[in-house]
Amino acid sequence: MYDRMVSAAEKGFLGPVREELAGSAEGCVLEIGCGTGANFSHYTEKATEVVATEPDPYMLQRAEKRAAQMDRPIAVHQAPAEELPFPDASFDTVVSTLVLCSVDDPAKALSEVRRVLKPGGELRFYEHVRYESAFGGFWQDLVAPVWGWLGGGCHPNRDTAASIREAGFTIEKLERSKPLPPIPPMVCSRPHIKGIAVRPAEDKAA
Ligand SMILES: C[S@@+](CC[C@H](N)C(=O)[O-])C[C@H]1O[C@@H](n2cnc3c(N)ncnc32)[C@H](O)[C@@H]1O
Repeated sequence: MYDRMVSAAEKGFLGPVREELAGSAEGCVLEIGCGTGANFSHYTEKATEVVATEPDPYMLQRAEKRAAQMDRPIAVHQAPAEELPFPDASFDTVVSTLVLCSVDDPAKALSEVRRVLKPGGELRFYEHVRYESAFGGFWQDLVAPVWGWLGGGCHPNRDTAASIREAGFTIEKLERSKPLPPIPPMVCSRPHIKGIAVRPAEDKAA
């Protein structure tokens, strides 16, 4: 259902976002919460190795199927972002698209991302987030329980840029946009952020 639900967005704003974030990911790349593998076809030869994780068994099946259709190996592991089964400092880049709204514990997930990234490595992210206005945030808080129940645990009201900073990253690039129409239900997840955060080069122990 997920691929069908987002197909219009893929043709609109999401396709170019994937192209930009996954398309310029470099070195040994980890994608967290890969879903059905919508980013897979966007990785280029700049990514010398691509590894993906996904905790949901149904999404995982789709991702594995899509990975098998790619003309490069993509290893898909079943794991939540809060418990990444990889050694410290093993990736140059981590890609996260529309995932940090859904993880159970954003602080733990981001601490894991920081741990597995090499110092100086990049977290490339695209997420829907909390409105900056108090009014918008208030409405998102109000709808959050129902939204989460209908949307597989998605939280519309997270200030993800703040969580990324609190996890010890330096945000080097941050763009805010509102690509969805201001009508229900999309109005609840309208503010999006796209950016690059870096694990500081001098950060020796996560
Ligand atoms: C909205 S989908 C996005 C999928 C994909 N990243 C994309 O861009 O199409 C959210 C994804 O986050 C995954 N997810 C939920 N909880 C997670 C967790 N704790 N760790 C990692 N991924 C999680 C879901 O299973 C789902 O695949």
